[in-house]
Amino acid sequence: MAEIGTQISKASRLLENNELVAIPTETVYGLAGNALEPLVIAKIYTAKDRPTFDPLITHVTNIADASALVHTFPALAQKLAEQFWPGPLTLLLPKREHVPDVLTSGLDKMAIRVPNHPMTLNLLKQISFPLAAPSANPFGYVSPTTAAHVDQQLGAKIPYILDGGPAHIGMESTIVSIEEEVIYVHRLGGIDIEMLRTFGEVNVLPHTKSNPDAPGQLDSHYAPRKKVVIGDLELLLLKYSDMKTGILSFSKTYLHPNKSIVLSPDGDINEAAEHLFSALRTLDAEDIDLILGEYVPQKGIGRAINDRLKRASFI
Ligand code: TXA
Ligand code: MG
Repeated sequence: MAEIGTQISKASRLLENNELVAIPTETVYGLAGNALEPLVIAKIYTAKDRPTFDPLITHVTNIADASALVHTFPALAQKLAEQFWPGPLTLLLPKREHVPDVLTSGLDKMAIRVPNHPMTLNLLKQISFPLAAPSANPFGYVSPTTAAHVDQQLGAKIPYILDGGPAHIGMESTIVSIEEEVIYVHRLGGIDIEMLRTFGEVNVLPHTKSNPDAPGQLDSHYAPRKKVVIGDLELLLLKYSDMKTGILSFSKTYLHPNKSIVLSPDGDINEAAEHLFSALRTLDAEDIDLILGEYVPQKGIGRAINDRLKRASFI
């Protein structure tokens, strides 16, 4: 088990000594290390059991620090950064030579964002390097939204978890690239595409089976160990009545002998996002054989929720 605490100075000391520290962000917890140190990046891949073709996101304090890492920062990308940073938007921008190739799995572009969490922004100000931080979970599993989640799975592999409370958004950042004034969405997330559309044409890229050229878009991802089936809950309950099932519903309560979790009794899509990953973890730990779930309204952050549900259910 790792030490869990709120000491920013301790976290910065460990990071300066090339150790890994789990950090809070508004989206999910990250597994952080010095983004400019190839050996530290290697440690992150090992701790997560992550294939090295899947590049990491780099975290900085502001647009100026991001500019120091990239070759070009197109005007539209600048506008998005000004609007959404600090916040759950990751920009793919061409990296400079001094940024290690292992950070981007050899790709020309790096993923970069300014996280919106006071503790982590403070930490970033105390250190002299950017932080590489993928979500702090083993590769392919559900992202952690609390320090306890991180501890359960990676506690034995890292010395310290900076506890910033439960992640407020609960969904990973939206990842975008910009080509000729068009915004391409590589992963749906905390910033909804309705908001992006106010800045120009938006194109959502499809998932792939296993394409290293489109990392982060693998079909099966964000998944609990238990099998997940998504559909009409009434019908699914009939279909699987002979099995021990748990339920994950959007706003309606189901009378059920086993565990049943309602993401937002008020039907609030943002509240549903905030609770999604911890609900999947809870159901995964229950004595059930199958998790039955339903899609939420396909609007705002609901698109990202449905994307994660779909991928959690993909076998
Ligand atoms: O909200 C978040 O983005 C969280 C917090 C900790 O910041 N981080 C996160 O990182 O979700 P991770 O590593 O779990 O997901 C990052 C995704 C990966 O799917 C990766 O493939 C994609 O970003 N990515 C990173 N660099 C990329 C690049 N150069 N081109 C395309 N995709 C990239
Ligand atoms: Mg992840």
